[in-house]
Amino acid sequence: MKVLVVFSHPRRDSLTGQVADAVVAGLGDAGHEAELADLHGEGFDPVLREPDEPDWEREDKVYSAAARDEMARMERNDAVILVFPIWWWSMPAVLKGWIDRVWNKDWAYGSAFLSHKRALAIGLSASDEPTYAKRGYDTAIETQIVTGIFNYCGIEDGRFAYLHHSTDGGERPAAMIAEARELGRHFADGLAPGQ
Ligand SMILES: Cc1cc2nc3c(=O)[nH]c(=O)nc-3n(C[C@H](O)[C@H](O)[C@H](O)COP(=O)(O)O)c2cc1C
Repeated sequence: MKVLVVFSHPRRDSLTGQVADAVVAGLGDAGHEAELADLHGEGFDPVLREPDEPDWEREDKVYSAAARDEMARMERNDAVILVFPIWWWSMPAVLKGWIDRVWNKDWAYGSAFLSHKRALAIGLSASDEPTYAKRGYDTAIETQIVTGIFNYCGIEDGRFAYLHHSTDGGERPAAMIAEARELGRHFADGLAPGQ
């Protein structure tokens, strides 16, 4: 399976970057082919301007070259994994802008939908599970990303994985990297061979 791993963090050598590398390594362990999209490193412009604004009256809008390049990158992969730090109980603006511009009308929703077999969002969080549960951040984040983006765009098999305690230091970073490798290794579990 070909998997697009979309990484969003200002520093390539951040813990988030190491987690993204571990996901790629885990996918490789399981015999999958990973393609890494480093949104910051590539200078992706997250601002949706007029050329990428959906046309609500037509289904044949041609989007900007930058958006079409990203659509092509999505199309040459069978599944997608997003790796990002949780900022304000959500995804970073650059990743949100990538969704805004690329997962666009009549390609990802509207008259056409994504055909990706599975999507996984991996969020690094400084906080912990009880805090997310207490305030309902877990439900809010998962509803927004899994239901509101993955499922809405036709990817029925959408999941969210948290890597909590990301700023604890000590042995935690190494444990997170090991967990991320397992997430990559088992990403395609349950999907039919050849998919
Ligand atoms: C602008 C900003 C907002 C943040 N908001 C949250 C938050 O809402 N919840 C949380 O658990 N951590 C939050 N954090 C902590 C980050 O998730 C944490 O810094 C990151 O997971 C550490 O990974 P890194 O070293 O790769 O950046 C925030 C950090 C920043 C910079």
